[in-house]
Amino acid sequence: MAPPFAGSKFVNDGDGEVMASVVFTGIAKEDAKFLGMMAPLGAVLTDDQLAEVLTYVRGNFTNKSSAVTAAQVKAWREK
Ligand code: HEM
Repeated sequence: MAPPFAGSKFVNDGDGEVMASVVFTGIAKEDAKFLGMMAPLGAVLTDDQLAEVLTYVRGNFTNKSSAVTAAQVKAWREK
């Protein structure tokens, strides 16, 4: 149904801004290999909630990327 989080470049890129943008706006790749598209979820998650989800996924499923703070999410949301 959807791509794996393990090793995903969208999940592990940089400080987490790319992953945050996927959750803010959703994603539908032109070469999508999966059955659906992802709807935007930014409006239903607070900065704290989104920071916790991003941190969890970036630090699990074999991923070892840095944690994300609510302050970072707030700044990215405003951008
Ligand atoms: C807070 C919850 C969620 C997070 C953090 C999240 C995160 C992500 C990320 C990072 C990607 C890109 C992964 C990659 O391509 O390597 C992705 C893609 C996708 N997500 Fe989500 N997602 C969430 C909720 C959902 C929900 C609720 C659905 C569907 C009901 C969904 C459906 C999809 C689909 C279908 C794709 C692939 C789209 C494409 O390849 O064009 N996601 N998600």
